[in-house]
Amino acid sequence: MFAIRLTELSDKSATWAVPVGPDGPPRLGELDAEVRALIEQTSDAGKAGALTVLPRPVNRPSRVLLVGASTGSESDWRAAGAAAIRAASGDEILEVHLPEGVSGAAVRGLAEGLWLGGYRYRDAPRAARSGEVRLIAANPSAYEESLALARVTAAATWLARDLTNTPSSVKNPEWFAGQIVAAAADKPGLTAKVRSGDELTRFGGLLAVGGGSVSPPRFVELSWQPAGATTHVVLVGKGITFDTGGISIKPRDGMKLMKKDMGGAAAVVAATLGAAELGLPIRVTALTPLAENAVSGSAFRPGDVITHYDGTTSENLNSDAEGRLVLADALAYASEQLAPDLVVNLATLTGANAVALGKRTAALYSPDDDLAAALTAAGEEAGERMWRLPLADDYADNLASDIADRVSAPAGPGSVMAALFLRDFFGDTRWAHLDMSAPSWAEADDQDLTKGATGWGARTLIRYLSQLP
Ligand code: BES
Ligand code: MN
Ligand code: ZN
Repeated sequence: MFAIRLTELSDKSATWAVPVGPDGPPRLGELDAEVRALIEQTSDAGKAGALTVLPRPVNRPSRVLLVGASTGSESDWRAAGAAAIRAASGDEILEVHLPEGVSGAAVRGLAEGLWLGGYRYRDAPRAARSGEVRLIAANPSAYEESLALARVTAAATWLARDLTNTPSSVKNPEWFAGQIVAAAADKPGLTAKVRSGDELTRFGGLLAVGGGSVSPPRFVELSWQPAGATTHVVLVGKGITFDTGGISIKPRDGMKLMKKDMGGAAAVVAATLGAAELGLPIRVTALTPLAENAVSGSAFRPGDVITHYDGTTSENLNSDAEGRLVLADALAYASEQLAPDLVVNLATLTGANAVALGKRTAALYSPDDDLAAALTAAGEEAGERMWRLPLADDYADNLASDIADRVSAPAGPGSVMAALFLRDFFGDTRWAHLDMSAPSWAEADDQDLTKGATGWGARTLIRYLSQLP
């Protein structure tokens, strides 16, 4: 990730970004009057994320960009930051001039926008940003903490995007597990345990789904356990490193983005590392069942009955409903072995998520109103939207099977049915499930999102975890 520096010292050889929002324009020294007059004449410059390149009556600085911060909410500032970084080329020095007295939340949003809008895939052929990015403030030290918080959430999102953008020819379960182990190495309080082979005997869903691939499955338990922590949150993430649909094979269009089917695992891992980076005083465990859903002679079949970690069985009706099978084992493991206070599950689980809610909104399920409200609020602040859908009991009978405890792919509304399937495996623990298939990918650059993986969930989880007692 490129550096962002807070400083008092401005430089006229740089490109200046001037926020237009409710805090009023920043002080711009000798250019103050001139730029203020230009802002007056520029309609719409204040819309969130709007970019206006000023004509050049001002000979120096080299360019002046107006960036809209609208009402001054954290998300509006995030949009302003993303607009500014997109307008600056990679070798340009960019200065964002902060209005006097702007809030810490505004600076956090702005910095997140700069980093998120300026994301670049770590293996991209294009050179990394070399131009310095500065936040110009009269009292820079007042904002150091906001900048540090933004750095942690942005770094987590960059990691989640990098993992998700990695091609599946590289990203098999073993590689993904290795990435998690490497990220956890040498950090006191952080440990990563990888299970494979015989250690997975009880993980019947994971073994079935991963059985068709030459790259066998892994189960990773990443743990942040600071001394004295009492609250324990378990985060579970779907980690299908590629989803062909298996024997119930996907049509070609439906398959082409399926390297992203581990976006849930990427987000929970990144959020747990973020919790460690922030030194949060709670215990956080990320569980990631990692498997490739492949087509081969050893693949599991429609009609097969699978025994999960908790000893209950699922009749597989459609090998493309693989996510819930691997998650079932992870959720049962969490409730039996870890007895946490709370479990949050993230998964690119159904195409129905986008049908119901469109491309930028995750579906939230929880029997717990307080937890649902807290996650929604954290998402709102973080700039990641979710919408609560019902655990509609009137469809529960569709789960019935003649030969097992349930079927894997019942009739009914797709995203709701998947949530009803998972519900059994949380035990007595407080829980929430986020179906984030839709917002896990962006078709094009859009404010804080860059084309490709969005890293959805990492930011929300870090915000949520940060406010727990
Ligand atoms: N990984 C897919 C869901 C998905 C679809 C994610 C599109 C992102 C974009 C999941 O494994 C799947 O195939 N779900 C099926 C479930 C069905 C077979 C019950 C679906 O949504 O069609
Ligand atoms: Mn599938
Ligand atoms: Zn899938």
